[in-house]
Amino acid sequence: MKLFKLKKQLLQQLRMLRAEGRSIALVPTMGALHKGHLSLIALAKQNADIVVSSIFVNPTQFTDPKDLERYPRPIEADIEKLTNAGCDILFNPEVDEMYADNEQWHLGLGELEFLLEGEFRPGHYQGVTQVVFKLFDIVKPDVALFGQKDYQQFLVISKMVSVLNLPVKLIMCPIQRDPDGLAMSSRNVHLSAEERQRALILSKALFWLKDNFAPAKMEAVRAQAALMIKKQEGVDLEYLSLADGDTLKPADEKSARIVALVAAKVGKTRLIDNVIV
Ligand code: PAJ
Repeated sequence: MKLFKLKKQLLQQLRMLRAEGRSIALVPTMGALHKGHLSLIALAKQNADIVVSSIFVNPTQFTDPKDLERYPRPIEADIEKLTNAGCDILFNPEVDEMYADNEQWHLGLGELEFLLEGEFRPGHYQGVTQVVFKLFDIVKPDVALFGQKDYQQFLVISKMVSVLNLPVKLIMCPIQRDPDGLAMSSRNVHLSAEERQRALILSKALFWLKDNFAPAKMEAVRAQAALMIKKQEGVDLEYLSLADGDTLKPADEKSARIVALVAAKVGKTRLIDNVIV
């Protein structure tokens, strides 16, 4: 695997590959890689000749400075994981390689920006689109892969691609879970053994909701699943929504796809998860 910290070097390498007619897949990450990230790399390999991954803990998408500060950064272990997964190129820039001082960014994303995660993390999706736009602009990938784990993020990036007419195909990859159901996340390393056990209520409630879902009793099953979570000691529910899979507004009988999305704090660690119902 080739590692680049500078845009210039990466651009030079990509220009060569493109001249040879190779297609390029991009898998953006913030590192602290787990099997969820690696499943994106595996799927990327099936969809392009060359897989480029990025590791960049993007400061502009963090709403809580403490969250940014304590975000795990095990770069050596990440390099080894990506190499073993068959990633071809890693882009791992410093902050000043990605951003000029006092850079401004605003992209109209409509209501998507303010619902669910947008309500609890104001400005988060401006930061996400800002960095993903830059990565798309540098790498110019044919395809880019993102996880269903961050369902709303996928919708937001799809919106950006459509608003700005970006020539990239987006692929959504299924959520990878630990055997007990917990959705894999870089933030799981912050959970104590007891907190990790408590966090299982999130996937349990989502699976229960999926199994018991019926269009006629949407609000009743949603409320029941929310109650399961609220009853769990040490877990602070932020939202549990049964949402339309395209708009993320509350689902109704016209929704073509319905997604149950949850966010909660387990101790100091904020976790999100979802299932397509
Ligand atoms: P990060 O949280 O590192 O996630 C990188 C990619 O891995 C995202 O597309 C995310 O949805 C996916 N992912 C995370 N956990 C997963 C799991 N359990 N199963 C499958 N895929 C999973 O998401 C970001 O970084 C950032 O916002 C980023 C897009 C890189 C922009 O900074």
